[in-house]
Amino acid sequence: MFTAGVLTASDKGAKGERADESGKLIALELEKLGYNVVEKIVVQDEIDEITSALEEMVDRGINLILTTGGTGFSKRDVTPEATKMVIERETPGISEAIRHFSFQITKKAMLSRAVSGIKKDSLIINMPGSPKAVKESMDIIMPSIEHGLEILL
Ligand code: MTE
Repeated sequence: MFTAGVLTASDKGAKGERADESGKLIALELEKLGYNVVEKIVVQDEIDEITSALEEMVDRGINLILTTGGTGFSKRDVTPEATKMVIERETPGISEAIRHFSFQITKKAMLSRAVSGIKKDSLIINMPGSPKAVKESMDIIMPSIEHGLEILL
């Protein structure tokens, strides 16, 4: 069984001003697919906070790390920048697939700057912030992720 972690980047979520619906949904979907969700964290939209949370999960050897939020154009949106600082090898096909298939649902999918990549035994994938976008993104990628993890590990 693969382990998984969920990181929500949200200023309001971290301050307790907004419920973490997207993070909850990701964890639920992962569990349905048979992943062992061992970490679920909400951090502010700050590069340092996001990178240290990601690094910590990588150091624990968590296999799949899904992030939500902070991929758009707001000046506070820095999840892709933080992710790029952590990963060793990019996995552009995953992020291209999310954008490509999401674009057929909403043209605004082009506004997501999400990235993904591998560090050690961990695959990190950015997803947009809304529960709707999270569900749509997971429907696109999850059928192929297990094969990728099997090759990585
Ligand atoms: N992708 C899917 N599948 N469905 C969506 O509704 N919303 C888009 C996009 N990707 C969306 C989507 C919107 S409106 C934005 S602004 C960007 O993701 C960035 O989202 P974020 O700032 O919440 O990370």
